[in-house]
Amino acid sequence: MLPNHTTITQFIIEEQRSIQGATGDFTGLLTDVVLACKTISHLTKNGALVNVLGSTQQENVQGETQKKLDIIANTLFLKANEWGGHLAAMASEEMDDVYQIPAQYPRGKYLLVFDPLDGSSNIDVNVSIGTIFSILRCPDHVEQPTVKDFLQPGTQQICAGYAVYGPATMMVLTTGNGVNGFTLDQNVGEFILTHPNIKIPEDTQEFAINSSNQRFWEEPVKRYVSECLAGKTGTRDKDFNMRWIASMVAEIHRILMRGGVFLYPLDSKNKEKGGRLRLLYEASPMSFIVEQAGGLSTTGRQPILEIVPTDLHQRVPVILGSRHEVQRLIDYHQAT
Ligand code: F6P
Repeated sequence: MLPNHTTITQFIIEEQRSIQGATGDFTGLLTDVVLACKTISHLTKNGALVNVLGSTQQENVQGETQKKLDIIANTLFLKANEWGGHLAAMASEEMDDVYQIPAQYPRGKYLLVFDPLDGSSNIDVNVSIGTIFSILRCPDHVEQPTVKDFLQPGTQQICAGYAVYGPATMMVLTTGNGVNGFTLDQNVGEFILTHPNIKIPEDTQEFAINSSNQRFWEEPVKRYVSECLAGKTGTRDKDFNMRWIASMVAEIHRILMRGGVFLYPLDSKNKEKGGRLRLLYEASPMSFIVEQAGGLSTTGRQPILEIVPTDLHQRVPVILGSRHEVQRLIDYHQAT
């Protein structure tokens, strides 16, 4: 860390100073979220050395087998954030119901929703994984928040962010005022502002989709991908590259760094569930970040940020990234 570096703490406090009437509550909450992510980062970096790899025998509400690190990261997030007095309640991918703040702690005005460990199939194989979170305001006069208090469209998010545990650990944040990226200085234990005002290039020659689902896709997605694959020999007049990490966080991070489009679309396999990815703690926060970086997000038929959730663990189709490519996909959906 150098003397002219801005730490995430300084960055958040300076943002707070620019907001009239800010109490410091939000700053306190983000500090706790950051601490939780630093601790998860430490565990992921040490892996088998600290005995966090492998599965539990339990399933989460989605019917997916939980990894040890899913549970540990979830507990860390709860413990780091329950005591500060900033939150009214929390919800997570790993818990069926709303988590109430234990009675011994004061209640605050925010709601925290998170996916403590995204891309869990990558934990045991040492590939990038991440944490996604979203902060909402608790509706006025609600003492004991229930599911319905969390069912707010993405446009109402106060903040969205993720931590990516890759070769370096980074945190990327938006509070609706652009997107900033911070890299964890492992020696000092602080995130340092390294990627101010991130912007996604409007054009791209890279797409990300799980191609093994091809036979289940809808027509607009089939058309888009086949045109990308045809490259210079087809209507697109340029060659495309394809990537699939199977960690949404890592995928979105790549798109923020150099452009691209990410698709987990509606298909005949996931249609009954509404899609594959979860709205409140995956699609919605990532869409907020992508749009704040100049990109676009859609289900193909509707802007993701405008969806009014009907369930805590609701799933939606997700298409997001470089603006011109996403717009093309919207056009293809409208044309059918
Ligand atoms: O649960 C979410 C997730 O792990 C995402 O991070 C990732 O994009 C996707 O699921 C991977 O899906 P698949 O198993 O189809 O590759």
